[in-house]
Amino acid sequence: MPKMTFVETDGTRREVDAPLGLSILEVARRHNIDLEGACEGSLACSTCHVVVAPEWYDLLPDAKEDEEDMLDLAFGLTKTSRLGCQIRISEELDGLVVQLPGAK
Ligand code: FES
Repeated sequence: MPKMTFVETDGTRREVDAPLGLSILEVARRHNIDLEGACEGSLACSTCHVVVAPEWYDLLPDAKEDEEDMLDLAFGLTKTSRLGCQIRISEELDGLVVQLPGAK
């Protein structure tokens, strides 16, 4: 099973199982990671914002326009920001690392 790592706001790294096909948001929920996802993945909020580790960013499918629009509203936007509900775990993403916004 693929794994991914969340870096929490206090710098804690949590490596967790990331089943194929689940979104980053769904993986976070399964492991009680503090990622809100208020709109349940319908691209109507930006509370699932994650900062993707730069070495992983280019491996992700490109963001669609709707995602870009919501991201523009996200707190703490960075060059490698994405919405966690829009990225699904694939074999290629085994080992993915993302930070919660505001992490040190
Ligand atoms: S959960 Fe609202 S946009 Fe991702």
